[in-house]
Amino acid sequence: MNRFLPLLLGAALLGSAQARTLAEIKKAGVIKIGTNAEFKPFTYFEGMTMRGFEYDLGNAIASQLGVRAQWVNQPFDNLLIGLNGDRYDLVISSHGITPERQKAVDFSAPHYCSGGMIVARAGGPKTAAQLKGKTVATQVGTTYVGQIAKVVGTKNVRTYPNNADALQALRAGRVDAMVNERFYSLEALKASGGKLQQGDMLFQEKLGMAVAKGNKTLLGAVNTALKTVQGNGTYAKISKTYFGQDIRCR
Ligand code: ARG
Repeated sequence: MNRFLPLLLGAALLGSAQARTLAEIKKAGVIKIGTNAEFKPFTYFEGMTMRGFEYDLGNAIASQLGVRAQWVNQPFDNLLIGLNGDRYDLVISSHGITPERQKAVDFSAPHYCSGGMIVARAGGPKTAAQLKGKTVATQVGTTYVGQIAKVVGTKNVRTYPNNADALQALRAGRVDAMVNERFYSLEALKASGGKLQQGDMLFQEKLGMAVAKGNKTLLGAVNTALKTVQGNGTYAKISKTYFGQDIRCR
């Protein structure tokens, strides 16, 4: 269970009254979008510039709403709390749609489907069975934490605030494996020059965009915008740019 869940639920009860409606966002001409931009190829920085699949998708959705997107970079573990604290209107940061999170925020239709992949140093564990008794790194606050714990037990999960730190722990031999988003992991493998090896998918999940609990007008508009960009070729084009394929749920 996410250590921030009680806080999150509290924020959901108190905070959502202030969430900006679609009309208010349109009037302001700007939608604020929260993300954790160290998650290549979803949202990440290239120098001072934010880039990525979710960055382009968020901008395309903003443009469907007739507004400009203003991006707010946050640690992953703060994102849903900040949403219910009204620091931004929408969160696009590869959140798995889980019943636990659905108690605190409302999710859009999934904007892609993926899952957690095992990565290790060459010669290391590749399957869930081979993870038994090993230490496994991942980012704090993610769905991966619980999925890894199911296999290796809570005390063998090592959590890090940033993915880069989890990856560094793996490279340096401080942990035996890492479980992370499939495409994030593939990107890390590519960059490792053969030092890291690809393992199995540990589980599958549907990823969605989040609005403050009860923000129906914004949620409706975001879902409509997603459908439009998935229908008019925009989504396919963005997806192919970053993944060479269309990653929408089938
Ligand atoms: N899919 C995972 C989850 O829902 C991890 C997402 C991490 N996203 C990020 N931008 N770092 O918890």
